[in-house]
Amino acid sequence: LLDPTFSQAVIDWQRTHGRHTLPWQNTRDAYRVWLSEIMLQQTQVAAVLGYYARFLERFPTVQDLASAPIEDVMAHWSGLGYYTRARNLHACAIRVVNEYGGQFPADPALLADLPGIGRSTAAAITAFSNGTRAAILDGNVKRVFARVFGVEGYPGEKRIEEGLWRRAEALLPAEGIESYTQGLMDLGATLCTRSKPDCGRCPLQARCVAFATNRTDELPVRKPK
Ligand code: ADE
Ligand code: SF4
Repeated sequence: LLDPTFSQAVIDWQRTHGRHTLPWQNTRDAYRVWLSEIMLQQTQVAAVLGYYARFLERFPTVQDLASAPIEDVMAHWSGLGYYTRARNLHACAIRVVNEYGGQFPADPALLADLPGIGRSTAAAITAFSNGTRAAILDGNVKRVFARVFGVEGYPGEKRIEEGLWRRAEALLPAEGIESYTQGLMDLGATLCTRSKPDCGRCPLQARCVAFATNRTDELPVRKPK
């Protein structure tokens, strides 16, 4: 499972070809990082940008968000979709203020106990805001891993997902967790797309089972009927 060069390939690619100027990058403010990760859970970067700017203008701190009426929060989310995210966002802000004095906890396990924050989002927030070594595994990353490692089995199945989490943990770099985490996200979103992945530009091509066996159309395995 241990592969010392996988992470370095991702980090090098991110540093030369990845995005470095998104508004939630180059900040260690956990509030800003958290807000971006929740917005980006089910929405693409281009659609998030305007909402993110307007949201922060109206709610500059977690205290501002926690003390705002839910109607005001919903109004600023209107159009982004998946509105449970906005209700959880507000509930989470209230808990961070009441239980943690307005400071997001640094421990990913404590973060993952808050509304709307799953294991992968908790890891992303601590990686970006504290440089903590924690593994992400969102839908895009599952697809990259399933292809690179030739994972046979539907990634939504518990046993397969557990195997992917073990790989995600084992592959973490000793240093550069921010570049690595952002690199994995960007690879999945821009190169290793669901249909027609751009393998010609991919830093993982030399180690990718799906590429080597011409099975990018078949991996990840689709949901069994
Ligand atoms: N999707 C989820 N998190 C992201 C991030 N930090 N940057 C770009 N896309 C993302
Ligand atoms: Fe995805 Fe292609 Fe890269 Fe393999 S070589 S990880 S299929 S983009």
